[in-house]
Amino acid sequence: MQPDYNYWMFMETAQKIDGSPAAASGGPMLVRPFLVRRRVKETADTYSLELASPAADGGFQFHPGQFNMLYAYGVGEVPISISGDPAKNRSLTHTIRAVGAVTRAIVNTKPGGQLGIRGPYGVGWPVKDITGRDVVIVAGGIGLAPLRPAIHHLLAHREKYGKVILLYGARTPEEILYHKDLAKWRSRFDLEVLVTVDRATDGWKGNIGVVTTLINRVQFEPSNCAALVCGPEIMMRFTLMELIEQHVEEGNISISMERNMKCGIGLCGHCQLGPTFVCKDGPVYCYRNVKDVLQKREL
Ligand SMILES: Cc1cc2nc3c(=O)[nH]c(=O)nc-3n(C[C@H](O)[C@H](O)[C@H](O)COP(=O)(O)OP(=O)(O)OC[C@H]3O[C@@H](n4cnc5c(N)ncnc54)[C@H](O)[C@@H]3O)c2cc1C
Ligand code: FES
Repeated sequence: MQPDYNYWMFMETAQKIDGSPAAASGGPMLVRPFLVRRRVKETADTYSLELASPAADGGFQFHPGQFNMLYAYGVGEVPISISGDPAKNRSLTHTIRAVGAVTRAIVNTKPGGQLGIRGPYGVGWPVKDITGRDVVIVAGGIGLAPLRPAIHHLLAHREKYGKVILLYGARTPEEILYHKDLAKWRSRFDLEVLVTVDRATDGWKGNIGVVTTLINRVQFEPSNCAALVCGPEIMMRFTLMELIEQHVEEGNISISMERNMKCGIGLCGHCQLGPTFVCKDGPVYCYRNVKDVLQKREL
């Protein structure tokens, strides 16, 4: 099934507004068809889809932390972070939790099925600006998905960073993502990985408690440290408080925000956060720059 009339009218308008040569050839709103190559069940409601473009168009370049708009033909379009390795640009990986009509249609797309992709959009993690520092990554639930490309990048350029620490919290052991990656990362001597669950179930022998309880169990240099944080807003709020308590500077904390989106390129205003648009100025923000806006509303 093809995108509907309204969708194409919207795209055409956006391309006229954009007016760039890129827009003339399809531009930032161009939906490219991708085939699902692999579908991996991560948890009961979350799947990772490995996608490939049928056109040999030079692969898919992206920056860790960026997102795409994924279009389930005839159902709708949603923003989803890119969760794969930025160095492997022949395929594109997304990890999606089925919460509604569109995400359900996306995760139910079997290998050989087609999805529309436009992007990559937004500002990602500042991985190139934080070289020479300790890096503390704090992820909650599916928040590990947008952070995984950053972890791949840090490990691929490991010598450029100080300590690298991953603190990951899930609600239950069954909701932990990327078991294979976590096992591989745990086996490295140059990456510290701590995982915790809010509620243990049978057989769980690891940490119990919210992810913030892990922060004061690891050692890093707060004055020379960058923190990358992604998860539910309530988890980010408590994580920010704990990091600041540990003397990490607000300007050295990056957070990834979510808002409802339509255009994905700063035209429609759906994703406004204070004077910024999450799709264009985020989703990754320096905490210092959005602190005031975040404090005005309940996170
Ligand atoms: C920049 C960005 C990156 C994202 N990356 C991912 C990702 O990597 N993987 C992923 O699974 N999801 C991601 N999301 C969230 C995803 O876009 C939403 O889950 C999706 O839009 C829901 O659409 P739907 O039509 O399936 O459900 P809807 O019918 O729109 O919503 C179903 C239920 O989910 C709730 N919901 C909708 N959107 C969100 C949200 N953003 N956060 C929490 N609850 C929500 C609704 O309130 C409702 O209760 C991202 C969102 C943004 C803005
Ligand atoms: S989604 Fe349209 S401005 Fe951000």
